[in-house]
Amino acid sequence: MRDSELVSVARAARAFARADFSKCKVGAALETVGGTVVSGCNIENATYGLTICAERVAMFKALSEGHRTFRRIAIVANTNGPVLPCGACRQILWEFGGDLEVVLANMRRETGRYTLGELLPMPFDARLLK
Ligand code: THU
Repeated sequence: MRDSELVSVARAARAFARADFSKCKVGAALETVGGTVVSGCNIENATYGLTICAERVAMFKALSEGHRTFRRIAIVANTNGPVLPCGACRQILWEFGGDLEVVLANMRRETGRYTLGELLPMPFDARLLK
C-alpha cells in the first residue's frame, strides 16, 4: 500500500473523531505486517483527562483484534504543520509496534515522515525490566 492510501484511511477515520472540547480532530491508520489496516480517531470526554488519542485507539483496536506485528502508521490532522504524536502515544506505539514508520499529513499533503525510533530515542521498554 502506498503512503497516500494509508493517509486516505487516516483522513476518513478523522471524520469520526469526538473532539468536542479541543476541536482538534485527528485520524490514524495503522498497518500490520500482514497488510491489514486498522484505523482510529481521537475520543475526548467531559473530564478532558480521559481523552485518548487517535494513535492509541488504532493500536488498542488492532491488539484487541489479535494483530501483533506492525509496519507503519499514518496520522492526520487539519493543521499546517505535522501533528506529532504525544509522548504517551510514542511509548505505546513503541512497546507494541516497535520501530514503525510514521507518516504525518494534513488534509492536503504529507507533512513529515519519521521512524518511531527518531521520535522516541532511548525508550523505556520491557528490555529494561530484565
Ligand atoms: N491528539 C491525537 O489524537 N493525536 C496526536 O498525535 C496529538 C493529539 C488529540 C488529543 C486531543 O483529543 C486533541 O488531539 C488535542 O490535543
